[in-house]
Amino acid sequence: MFSSKISIYCFLLITITKYSFAVGNYYQASFGKPANAVTLKAIELFGKDEKSKVQALDLGCGEGRDTIALLKRGWQVVAVDKKSQAFHWLNRHEAVQDHADSLICVEMSFEDLIISNLPVDSFDLIIANWSLPFCSKKHFSSVWQKLISHTKIGGRFAGNFFGKNHSWNLERPWLVFLDKTEVLNLFDSFAIEEFEEIEYDELSACGEEVHWHTYSVIAKRIK
Ligand SMILES: C[S@@+](CC[C@H](N)C(=O)[O-])C[C@H]1O[C@@H](n2cnc3c(N)ncnc32)[C@H](O)[C@@H]1O
Repeated sequence: MFSSKISIYCFLLITITKYSFAVGNYYQASFGKPANAVTLKAIELFGKDEKSKVQALDLGCGEGRDTIALLKRGWQVVAVDKKSQAFHWLNRHEAVQDHADSLICVEMSFEDLIISNLPVDSFDLIIANWSLPFCSKKHFSSVWQKLISHTKIGGRFAGNFFGKNHSWNLERPWLVFLDKTEVLNLFDSFAIEEFEEIEYDELSACGEEVHWHTYSVIAKRIK
């Protein structure tokens, strides 16, 4: 009994250490990479609307490739991540020094967002790239409802979700994996502007072989 407890403890410790190491490697590998395609497309869509660009929320900002793209284009950005390391990397970008007045960094988990007092209808654009699948399954639905409430009517969501065929669905079943209907159902109060489901094999930023199954979405809140 005692030894099985020790084994479980060791397994958890190794898994958490491996995850922390992988996240650190991810920041290093992503540093300086261009913004995610959905972020750039969403920014363009605002241009077409001739709408003033005001506030964006970058959820799980990481080393900040999307945050940087937004800052450089004149947006105000609230960058959220649960890892202090993310902000360590984000602050290395020159653009952060150049646009310091336009950036608020919040070290917080998505789960804590549910109880945060961010004002409702406060963001023109919510970005969540390669991040929402890491939300705890238990809180995903509440986090999503909270995100909708923070999106202005006429504001947009741009980000991605993992599909059920993703190889991490076997290796890390505690992450959030959705089927197409489940993804579409998230956007009941949005008009979908871009929707792409893709599957491919590629090494992760940390050099791990991965079968990727993702849904990328850009959507405009209409009600
Ligand atoms: C794979 S990185 C993606 C970073 C960036 N969005 C990009 O596209 O390169 C995922 C980020 O989400 C953050 N993250 C994961 N789970 C989180 C949670 N529950 N709350 C807040 N941030 C989280 C991680 O710390 C990490 O920085």
